[in-house]
Amino acid sequence: MLTTHDAKHFTDAKQTLAATIARVITIATASQKGGVGKTTLCINLAYSLARRGWKTLLIDTDPQGAVGLSLARSTRAKRGFYDFLGGAAALNDVIISTRLPEFSLVPAGHYDELARRGQMTPDVISIRLRDLLRSAELAGIECVMFDTAAGLTGMTEQVVKIADWALIPQQSEPLAVRSVPHLLETLSRFRSEGAGVKVAGILLSMVMNDSPVSLQVARELRQVLSPELVFKMSVPRLPSFLDAAAQGIPLALLKANPPPEALLFDQIAAELEERIGLLREQEQGYRHASLLD
Ligand SMILES: Nc1ncnc2c1ncn2[C@@H]1O[C@H](COP(=O)(O)OP(=O)(O)O)[C@@H](O)[C@H]1O
Ligand SMILES: [Mg+2]
Repeated sequence: MLTTHDAKHFTDAKQTLAATIARVITIATASQKGGVGKTTLCINLAYSLARRGWKTLLIDTDPQGAVGLSLARSTRAKRGFYDFLGGAAALNDVIISTRLPEFSLVPAGHYDELARRGQMTPDVISIRLRDLLRSAELAGIECVMFDTAAGLTGMTEQVVKIADWALIPQQSEPLAVRSVPHLLETLSRFRSEGAGVKVAGILLSMVMNDSPVSLQVARELRQVLSPELVFKMSVPRLPSFLDAAAQGIPLALLKANPPPEALLFDQIAAELEERIGLLREQEQGYRHASLLD
């Protein structure tokens, strides 16, 4: 039987634990289409966030497993997200550390086995995702980035619904002007169904800076949507991204002297931090740099 003293001690301990575990911030990519640069963005952006000091975990929720494929061929055979989801592995068993201590990742793992068992209702998935975030918090992760499969149904729907922020990569092509508002409507439906997901922003991806159509669409999107929804930065379409994906690494690691576009992701990460309020305590209320104390 708990005495009053024990109970108080227990409550104090719980409060101390709650105070020491900072809440993890979760970001999920969202897009109706595949091939828009979600995975490329996730790998490079998660890496930049980690380089900027955030303990970042990139989780691949796409059964096609492009994060594993792209970062190291051997991760393909490893257990991952779907093994955790089905209860076959703890989060710590599926996290792969990298040479950058702040950057770790979870490959997709074995989707087929889970699908065969067919027991994953949306409610069960949602509970397991919350378990995952709790485990990530306990492991000291500050930022979880979910790479998702195209579309906003099935697993992607559940992942986006538990995320704090949806990041929307959008190709700069004529159909975008119609598809983006549709995607935003779906996200607001999720919110009306109780999800807390907010829009981190629309990031124009694969922009062809030498194509008048691509640039015109980028301009139109900024006009049609409220300007604050669209990232100031955009991702250009460049061959170096293909090289980096073929070698399975973030662009910043492509060569000893990475191409200038590698630095773009540091700027995109900085813009994202500002958009979602991902700030260190000492930065809150920060006004300007000072050379002197
Ligand atoms: N900015 C870019 N410039 C050139 N090629 C890119 C760019 N972003 C992605 N790609 C290439 O396009 C293909 C699809 O990108 P990917 O990131 O896998 O998209 P998604 O995850 O949305 O399906 C890959 O071959 C990738 O290397
Ligand atoms: Mg992908």
